[in-house]
Amino acid sequence: MRGESGMEWPVFLGIETSCDETGCGIVSGEGEVLAGVVASQVAEHERFGGVVPEIASRAHAEAIVGVIDRSLAKAGMEPGDIGVVAVTAGPGLIGPLLTGIAAAEGFAGALGIPLIPVNHLHAHVYGTGVAGGVEPPYTGLVISGGHTAFYRWEEGQEAPQLLGTTVDDAAGEAFDKVAKILGLGYPGGPAVEKAAAHGDAWAVKFPRPGVKMEGLRMSFSGLKTAVLYHVREMGREPDAVEKADIAASFQRAVAEALALKSARALEETGHRTFVAGGGVAANGAVREALAGACRETGVRIVLPEAGMAGDNGVMVAQMGRFMYNKGLWISPAGAGIKPYAGGEERMQRGRRR
Ligand code: KG4
Ligand code: ZN
Repeated sequence: MRGESGMEWPVFLGIETSCDETGCGIVSGEGEVLAGVVASQVAEHERFGGVVPEIASRAHAEAIVGVIDRSLAKAGMEPGDIGVVAVTAGPGLIGPLLTGIAAAEGFAGALGIPLIPVNHLHAHVYGTGVAGGVEPPYTGLVISGGHTAFYRWEEGQEAPQLLGTTVDDAAGEAFDKVAKILGLGYPGGPAVEKAAAHGDAWAVKFPRPGVKMEGLRMSFSGLKTAVLYHVREMGREPDAVEKADIAASFQRAVAEALALKSARALEETGHRTFVAGGGVAANGAVREALAGACRETGVRIVLPEAGMAGDNGVMVAQMGRFMYNKGLWISPAGAGIKPYAGGEERMQRGRRR
């Protein structure tokens, strides 16, 4: 803590507001998690069947101060105990990002402490790694609602190198769209997994998405379309058993494709450690498939603990800690943080609308 062990071990506060969770995390200079609070907006978006950006912005604005206060209370700290503030700058929805950035700039500015703009995807990977006790070098995979990307993260590197992404839908997006097709509700991932639990994963033969694509490029929109056509061809709404079979078969296709590409990524990097983060990393079938791919080659796999796969502030605080230790911080009195929707990441993702 500041004052006790000096400025080289400040306490880090991380703020996450890129999509539909308002998150705040507090970690010590050594990376110990002192507090984590997430306020979910699921109830607000549910009736629209997806995230409505304007509603998300408003919900973040309403929740952010309380979420920060609760985190400080959980850690038994005062604002003055915080030494560095990290905040997700992108990729994400601009309005929601601006809410978190405003809070972070206000907090850091009032205290005159360093401020760190964090990349959300890097935070998913690094935060999962720290929780599992590993540091780079490793190969990372982000499987979230907006992104599906492989990273090479070497020791000493300031940021990971992007190796390949989906050229269309993200893995989580496919889960969300299939949930919609099957009328399973929002958010789609957990709903599909729940339905799949009672289904036969070999009942329907779906294409394994993107496995024929070269290198680490991936694609999930064809699989989603295959599910849509399958349901259309039935000419009626599938019953509960059929829905379970479709959900399980779809889930298996995603899991197998991710496992295959992960094995390919590890072959390319030669790393002995693999870290996967993002909402879809909570999925049991996906976790099993990824673990299987790593087991075959004796690679150590690190997956998010329960409740830590999705968006949270702890991962942002951990990524802030990593960047601070590399000297990558800015003064709150200097230039403001610019939020970004995708930028370089989106460009490399391919032909996305
Ligand atoms: O990382 P995340 O919380 O937010 C983004 O950065 O996008 O990921 C959200 C995504 C959503 O598409 C959601 O449907 C998916 O993760 N997801 C799941 C599961 N839990 C969340 N997908 C499959 N199985 C799950 N259990
Ligand atoms: Zn995320």
